[in-house]
Amino acid sequence: MAILVTGGAGFIGSNFVLDWLAQTQETLVNLDKLTYAGNLRNLAPVNTNPNHIFVQGDIGDRALVGTLLSRYQPRAVLNFAAESHVDRSISGPAEFIHTNIVGSFHLLEAVRAYWTALPAGPASAFRLLHVSTDEVYGSLLAGEAAFSESRRYEPNSPYSASKAASDHLVRAYHHTYGLPVLTTNCSNNYGPLHFPEKLIPLMIVNALAGKPLPVYGDGQQIRDWLYVKDHCAAIRLVLERGRPGDTYNVGGWNEQANIDIVHAVCALLDEMQPRRDGRGYAQQISFVADRPGHDRRYAIDARKIKQELGWKPAETFASGLRKTVRWYLDNPQWVRDVQSGSYRDWVAHQYPGGGTAP
Ligand code: NAD
Ligand code: TYD
Repeated sequence: MAILVTGGAGFIGSNFVLDWLAQTQETLVNLDKLTYAGNLRNLAPVNTNPNHIFVQGDIGDRALVGTLLSRYQPRAVLNFAAESHVDRSISGPAEFIHTNIVGSFHLLEAVRAYWTALPAGPASAFRLLHVSTDEVYGSLLAGEAAFSESRRYEPNSPYSASKAASDHLVRAYHHTYGLPVLTTNCSNNYGPLHFPEKLIPLMIVNALAGKPLPVYGDGQQIRDWLYVKDHCAAIRLVLERGRPGDTYNVGGWNEQANIDIVHAVCALLDEMQPRRDGRGYAQQISFVADRPGHDRRYAIDARKIKQELGWKPAETFASGLRKTVRWYLDNPQWVRDVQSGSYRDWVAHQYPGGGTAP
């Protein structure tokens, strides 16, 4: 038995791969293009694991995906591969269209061809699980009910629009061709191996480096944060027990304003690695220009996955954030490695003035 995972060198994908290989003996074929966000060091613990087969390549390469499918005969394909950073999608949407829409289409076509040729038993057991985001639903007003699976799609950024398009394609392949698909729409993840262009890891690494902590706008935007390992557990559960054609919203029941997240990170760092001058890391907070079209609030109603599949997060935000900060403190070499790549160019592009570090 085998599964094919795409994007397994990125943040969530690599956490999923590490957990999978720690928990099962089933072969995992990992197809990743290794963009700036793909980091093979994330997979160092499974380098010599014979159940892990890494292949560098593009989900849009239909011939390659077809070859992998016929060689390894997976019982499932899990699609994590995507361009995932909203700010990058605003600066340059083309890659988002290329991978998230066109790439997903080619992947679907390759999977459809493989699945159509399978004998009846393996064909009915087969699953394509598409990993998506809560951002497809758009922005909530204060007091509005959290996103349920039946909420209409209203994506606002090139990133969320491209993810919405891929969700629609996945849905259409079920409706039209009967492909046994599952879609998960998850809220903001955080945890180990998170590329420091996203809020929580950026705040940790900037704080430790004595740099400004750039908070967009008034910092009152709300996200629903989930520890990445809880997301991975939800994906495993949906894969085994989800109903083909269904979508499952996954969230942390944990809505927090950005500024509160930044203060929480600072408080943990004050405790675990205080600044030498005795002042708090919150000194480094710097309010910067807001993100264009910035969604105000996301919140997931995760009742369906709880009621139907029995999933709920194992971590509280306090325990998950503590583990996350600990991981970054314990892995300075990982941070140095990602910073020595294109990450540095990106930060210079996004924050040209850099703000002023106290
Ligand atoms: P990430 O940017 O850290 O990793 C993406 C991975 O996909 C990288 O390893 C990259 O090399 C790979 N990739 C990109 N284009 C590719 C292509 N054309 N072919 C093959 N591989 C390619 O992203 P992430 O945060 O791990 O997110 C994974 C998935 O989960 C994405 O689909 C994202 O939309 C979704 N998601 C993310 C979050 C979050 O908070 N990070 C929340 C909900 C859903
Ligand atoms: P991010 O981690 O990019 O995730 P997403 O945009 O997918 O929710 O951003 C989380 C929130 O933090 C979002 O409201 C934007 C905000 N943010 C900042 O205030 N400063 C930053 O430097 C970054 C990267 C994000």
